[in-house]
Amino acid sequence: GTARVTIDPDFALGTVDPRLYGTFVEHMGRCVYTGIYEPEHLSADAHGFRGDVSGLVRELGTGLVRYPGGNFVSGYHWEDGVGPADERPRRLDLAWRSIETNRVGTDEFLGWARRQGVEPMMAVNLGTRGIDAARSLVEYCNVPGGTAWSDLRVRHGVREPHGVRLWCLGNEMDGPWQTGHTTAVEYGRLAAEAGKAMHQVDPSIELVACGSSNAGMPTFGEWERQVLHETYDEADYLSLHAYYEETGGDRASFLASGAHMDAYIRDVVATADHVRAVRRATKRIRLSFDEWNVWYQSRFPGERALPLEERPRLIEDTYSVTDAAVVGSLLMTLLRNADRVAIACLAQLVNVIGPIRSEPGGPSWRQTTFHPFALTARHARGTVLRTEVRGPVIDTDKHGPVPALDTVSTLDPETGALTVLAVNRDQDRALQLRAALRGFAASYRVVEHLRIADPDPDAANTEAAPDRVTPQSVRETAVAADGALEAALPPVSWNVIRLA
Ligand code: AHR
Repeated sequence: GTARVTIDPDFALGTVDPRLYGTFVEHMGRCVYTGIYEPEHLSADAHGFRGDVSGLVRELGTGLVRYPGGNFVSGYHWEDGVGPADERPRRLDLAWRSIETNRVGTDEFLGWARRQGVEPMMAVNLGTRGIDAARSLVEYCNVPGGTAWSDLRVRHGVREPHGVRLWCLGNEMDGPWQTGHTTAVEYGRLAAEAGKAMHQVDPSIELVACGSSNAGMPTFGEWERQVLHETYDEADYLSLHAYYEETGGDRASFLASGAHMDAYIRDVVATADHVRAVRRATKRIRLSFDEWNVWYQSRFPGERALPLEERPRLIEDTYSVTDAAVVGSLLMTLLRNADRVAIACLAQLVNVIGPIRSEPGGPSWRQTTFHPFALTARHARGTVLRTEVRGPVIDTDKHGPVPALDTVSTLDPETGALTVLAVNRDQDRALQLRAALRGFAASYRVVEHLRIADPDPDAANTEAAPDRVTPQSVRETAVAADGALEAALPPVSWNVIRLA
């Protein structure tokens, strides 16, 4: 079949914020220890961070990294993770029933983030702690000196303040699994008062209030409404989380996960704007989709079944070509909502459902999902253009009829570079993309067509075959002439077509 779109620079939807290409480092499994940090590794830098992993993180092009959790943060004492390393306590982490050595903490992570050139997004513990621990952490990080907590940072060898601008007010506080799980009104009151105190320390910071853990929570919708009612004055963003997996062999629904994410975003926008109307507010709350990914959650035994270990192997999912198409498509969904979604974090960065894998004392490699993320982060820059798809539709059990073509385009206003991202969700048939290039000079030509597709949609990258799946540069599959682009998209493929 053929799917048609019109791409027009006049249909500008919003600007791509580099914070949409965020990721997440939680003290969970091997994300920190033997993930980003492993002083014994041959590639380790002077700070104990793995050079090979740092290189892959740079190549991934992530602009923002959320830290330190996740469920972990809801039992975390940040004071355990600062100061002389050999005096730090070994704690029982309740979230993942693991032993936390605290070898890496706030200063180590923020130092790494600075050297990597990524913006940090910190979370405070509103599970077992509250206002006081939250405001003292902001003081420790952001006040230059002359107060007890900021002077402590200086004594720890960090002269300049970290200047952390973005802060999450807890994590998934609607979830019964969360340490300190509570009701929307109680959480909202605590988040508002913690946020107020944090703003009193540093008025320039931005705050993210917890939305629902996922759109399937029984309190979804009401949670958002009540939390925003309490926190509207202090919060700038509301969080969303979503993980997708193929269940019961229903790959068609899985490939259409973006439709679910899109509907979820619209529901949260509607709820946030409802609270805005009721409060007669002028400010609009923006969204922070600070956990999203493919996660084969059905294979996770549950935290209570875990033995008490240091850096256990937790949820180290291996991703396929199909998973890469879904991750690419979810990223396209976020871009299409860039007018309201300001922040997004692929969860997580290394080993724990990460696009990067690493072995202790061994190699690191790119999962299939690394590639659509890295190429989107590199090329989908500038202005997002609104497009409407007309063409073949796939009937799915979970999401109803969904277009076979998923697409989004961006235009870099400085260079004039046009990037067309496209996924063919059809598992059996190739799809022809026909785009009318309206308002573009007739001289636009295809610079490059890269795609991820494979005769085996379950093919994956492993330690033994780390480059089994890589983007292929294909020729003559995409042609632009006379104000039109034609491109051939194989079944279950992710594509980036660059024009200039
Ligand atoms: O990313 C893994 C976990 O998923 C996070 O700790 C939690 O916030 C979510 O439930």
